[in-house]
Amino acid sequence: MIREILKFGDPLLRERCAEVTVFDKELGVLLDDMYETMKKADGIGLAAPQVGVLKRVVVIDTGKERIELVNPVITAVWGKQYEPEGCLSCVGKRGIVKRPMHVRVKALNRFGRSVKYRGKELLARAFCHEIDHLNGILYEDKVIEWVEDEKG
Ligand code: CO
Repeated sequence: MIREILKFGDPLLRERCAEVTVFDKELGVLLDDMYETMKKADGIGLAAPQVGVLKRVVVIDTGKERIELVNPVITAVWGKQYEPEGCLSCVGKRGIVKRPMHVRVKALNRFGRSVKYRGKELLARAFCHEIDHLNGILYEDKVIEWVEDEKG
């Protein structure tokens, strides 16, 4: 089911989200809905607070694989990159953000089992951007310079 995406300015986007402790059908539905909502909006990442759910849940798909992160933690970063970033909660704007070039993440999947990912370039940016959302941090807080959106 497609869910409504909250926009910048909504106070829910500034909350710190709670750890998931129950791995039930409801969590699976949330993850499926988030993935569907992200795809419909043509995005590559979505965090649960963006659909008004204050839980530490993220979906990412940069075109290679569908990644689901529950209670994600960044375990290592190295390198740096400066690339334009956007957000489904702020369509039509993009800005340059400094991010690590490489990111390692540990998390749980929808069944509560441990998973690990490593990402570089776009995927590294997505991990950082989405995990920031879980702490009420928006990329606009980190923009070095705003850029023209390719889509106008
Ligand atoms: Co975002």
